[in-house]
Amino acid sequence: MEILKFPHPSLFRQSIPVTAFTDSLKVLLDAMWDTMKANNGLGLAANQVDLPWRMFVMEGVGGTRHYVVNPKIILRSAGYINEKEGCLSAPGEFVVVPDRNDWVKIEYQDENGKHKRLMASGNRAICVQHEIEHLEGKTHLQSKSIPKSKRIELAKKWGLE
Ligand code: CO
Repeated sequence: MEILKFPHPSLFRQSIPVTAFTDSLKVLLDAMWDTMKANNGLGLAANQVDLPWRMFVMEGVGGTRHYVVNPKIILRSAGYINEKEGCLSAPGEFVVVPDRNDWVKIEYQDENGKHKRLMASGNRAICVQHEIEHLEGKTHLQSKSIPKSKRIELAKKWGLE
């Protein structure tokens, strides 16, 4: 699969909830996983490969595959984590997003539609928050928590509004 780069319009689209858990959904998630791994990513959201569905893939601790469909954050830490964050749609760009919670708990469905919960911390927590933003048509590069001068610089560089 080809990974879209900013400012491709699909990266600014709100994703559509998945209602049919078919074999072809699994095929797409497998292909997303392979694409993510081939590009040394930790996570990949469906709209980054021009799919409209609300889902992402993420490599868990120890290499576990997470196929995360219809995710929702149900609990967040009070504290924040400040680590440089990259994106396969903005190659080579690494920025600190100051308001990232250092852990989050999500509810989601797996590729079979089974309801699950996941607690993510550290860089996995950053990844979960990052991918869910993608699914909402947003980008970390325009987070309000990034100093304004830096946000303007990033907007100019990546063609963001
Ligand atoms: Co990204």
